[in-house]
Amino acid sequence: MSISTDHSQADPNAHNGEQNDMPNLGQRPGRKVFIETYGCQMNMADTELMGGILGTSGYTAAPNHDEADVILINTCAVRERAEERVFGRLSHLLKYKHARPEVILGVTGCMAERLRETLTDRAPYVDLVIGPDAYRRLPQLLEECQEVDADPVVDVKLDREETYRGLVPKREPGIKGWVTVQRGCDKFCTFCIVPFVRGRERGVAPDEILRQCQSLADAGYKEVTLLGQTVNSYRHPETETDFADLLEKVVEVDGLERIRFTSPYPTDFTPKLIATMARHDKICNYLHLPLQSGSDEMLESMKRLYTTGEFLTLVDDIRGAIPDIAMSTDIIVGFPGETEEHYQKTVELLERIRFDFAFLFKYSERDGTYAARKLPDTLDEKTKKARLSALIETQEAISAEIFATKVGQTVRVMVEGESRRSADDLCGKTDDFKTAVFPKPENTILNPGDFADIIVEETTSHTLLGRAL
Ligand code: 5AD
Repeated sequence: MSISTDHSQADPNAHNGEQNDMPNLGQRPGRKVFIETYGCQMNMADTELMGGILGTSGYTAAPNHDEADVILINTCAVRERAEERVFGRLSHLLKYKHARPEVILGVTGCMAERLRETLTDRAPYVDLVIGPDAYRRLPQLLEECQEVDADPVVDVKLDREETYRGLVPKREPGIKGWVTVQRGCDKFCTFCIVPFVRGRERGVAPDEILRQCQSLADAGYKEVTLLGQTVNSYRHPETETDFADLLEKVVEVDGLERIRFTSPYPTDFTPKLIATMARHDKICNYLHLPLQSGSDEMLESMKRLYTTGEFLTLVDDIRGAIPDIAMSTDIIVGFPGETEEHYQKTVELLERIRFDFAFLFKYSERDGTYAARKLPDTLDEKTKKARLSALIETQEAISAEIFATKVGQTVRVMVEGESRRSADDLCGKTDDFKTAVFPKPENTILNPGDFADIIVEETTSHTLLGRAL
């Protein structure tokens, strides 16, 4: 993904006179940057943030790698595979430095934070390594890279306060946007690298969040997703705002028609939050609620703070208050100590809860986590793989059944654009986060951001197929 060449949003004066709080260093009018993004939605949002910061220093977005003076890869560290992909990508990007040695190649985000200087052991040609709390300093750090024979510039300082207040992310024109409401994580699940690479949990000030939401709406966006690692543990002590309070305020933002958030943590789901979701149509009837395992023993060993019984009660409470809510989850198979019995409990719980879909992962040991230090990863790769594919099969069947119940129903879809498979079809998402594909209607032009009522005629385990009414 590249950042937009449209510079208007990075104009600090375009936003109620708020200033990007940047010292007047590192001004580089005319220099071009290309940012590739890997990993979660928060990384996408961080890329927009970096785009805004660099925009204030005069950088514009390069249309491609060939024209870029600076190439940044914004990375994920949550599983080993994500990091391997980045190393592969880096060796590929080296060709741009061969062609033009002055090109600066930088690695940003979680993998940069995790590996620090050691990243350059495997990729010695990398000029810049910076973590998720160093983006404010990006223009100056890029200046340091400029120095002749400079060693790689590394800035991985984590900061308990940094919420990037006052900065204006640079967004491409669009209909669906992200607003980061919380940074870092305090949960320390034993498998998870996030607290180590994103630091402690901090809530962004509500006025800042609302300003961002309003600027999305003013730019024509219709949907916002509020982002945080455990988004519903959001707190802003100075204003005594919790996540339900925050949602109440975001609902008031004029122009936004759909509000989503990800990812909530089960034990931070309060009755007040459920009531808030139930009260407002704008808050979408979809929830991604990570379960991780169906075994109480595994949950305890993962330091998830709930039992399967408590999770089930929560799901019942949510479904009781919002009957048509769709849900998805994350599961890790092959966590250290997972026996066949533990695994079967996960299968049974997925069959019992019936999530609309699920993201299923094989455990990946991450250096520095509690599990890596104390819980040896003894399960063989073959067993892990077999458990993962069997679980995928189980979930696919459940998803297909749930999607099939939609046949004959009329669903409201926010149009996103042409479908990937055919220019004759449009695609979009329902309120409950299902992808719908339908032929372009003959007598109406539907643009991205328009809403259409679709009668569902056919389904797969991932898609609703229908026609516009
Ligand atoms: N191995 C495998 N999956 C992991 N996740 C987080 N850490 C790991 C790990 N070490 C998964 C969890 C989380 C999702 C974002 O990634 O399921 O919810």
